[in-house]
Amino acid sequence: MLQANDQLWLSNVIDKITTKMDWVSEKSRNKIPYTTVNGVHDDRNVDNPSDNITDGINWWTNGFWGGMMWLMHHETGNEKYKAIANISEDMLDECFQQYDGLHHDVGFMWLPTSVANYKVTGKAESKKRAMHAANLLAGRFNLAGGFIRAWNDLGEQDTRGWAIIDCMFNIPLLYWATEESGDPRFMQIAMKHADTAMSAFVRPDGSVNHIVEFDPFNGGVVKTYGGQGYEEGSSWTRGQTWALYGFMMSYIHTGKEEYLNTAKRIAHYFIANIPESGIIPIDFRQPKEPAYEDSTAAAIAACGLIEIAKVVGPHEKDVYVQAALKLLKTLDESRSDWTKDSDCILINGSSAYHNKDHHTAIIYGDYYFIEAIFKLKGNDLYLW
Ligand code: GLY
Repeated sequence: MLQANDQLWLSNVIDKITTKMDWVSEKSRNKIPYTTVNGVHDDRNVDNPSDNITDGINWWTNGFWGGMMWLMHHETGNEKYKAIANISEDMLDECFQQYDGLHHDVGFMWLPTSVANYKVTGKAESKKRAMHAANLLAGRFNLAGGFIRAWNDLGEQDTRGWAIIDCMFNIPLLYWATEESGDPRFMQIAMKHADTAMSAFVRPDGSVNHIVEFDPFNGGVVKTYGGQGYEEGSSWTRGQTWALYGFMMSYIHTGKEEYLNTAKRIAHYFIANIPESGIIPIDFRQPKEPAYEDSTAAAIAACGLIEIAKVVGPHEKDVYVQAALKLLKTLDESRSDWTKDSDCILINGSSAYHNKDHHTAIIYGDYYFIEAIFKLKGNDLYLW
């Protein structure tokens, strides 16, 4: 799949990842990081009201640190990563006591932690945790609309009818639950949600909506929202990638050809919009200035593109591999910090267009960058 010079670049990046993660993992071993403050990992196991951070241990990204540890364990065989992964997985148990704090993001939280642990070590406690999380996710299914409810109410905002494209990354927890238990209910819910997402989120040009509101009593689309992107009808790039890679995962778990075709359609739209620079904006339809960007979208897209390349014929493969290489090389060459000055790898992640902070370190940027690089090598621990 790769030319000799690409292989050389790849092994150099793997060396840099293993060097960096070797010391960062030990420095942050008792934390669950989300971002960096003055180069140092923060800790989302605790609330920080001064920073408007009140989700504490329920914060949706709290599975990625554990996931990074499992990826590193798989790549290096070093047992220290397994021990560190177990620390954050244990911390997440507190979430089960705080029912209100959990949304549909239980997939993001327990796939890279408990499911990973169970897949690698067979730990019974991890399986139990992941099955609890899968049941919570299944319980959010709305039968009339055929969708999984995203968030609990946001202040005054009634979100009973809200689904968001990111959920395509939570439903693999349901596929896993069926694969593990033999009970088809979980997969039925996941496929129904994916089918609804195919028709309600994916636009004819291959771009996707972030938020769709359904009538929670009778079904049917009520409204769409721009969500974390620029505006309604725009094209939030991370949302495009949750869809691209998300439909690919649904294809991998179910074999349903329509999911593959949808993933390819979204991928073609994404590839056509990659700028010459390889730098991905927060929204493909944002104004030219300010030139806000989101490195995390590039990393997630690369993972999805590599997965598509694995299943298409030899004539098609190169389109996806070359696009993934462009994204990853750009990240390595101009959007990474390989020094000891910072605990993060990727710089210039952005959580949302209208948030006040842009161009920060974000843990899932690092997670998906590492996942994409190991995927390219052919040594992916498939956690989704
Ligand atoms: N799942 C929320 C986000 O991507 O920011």
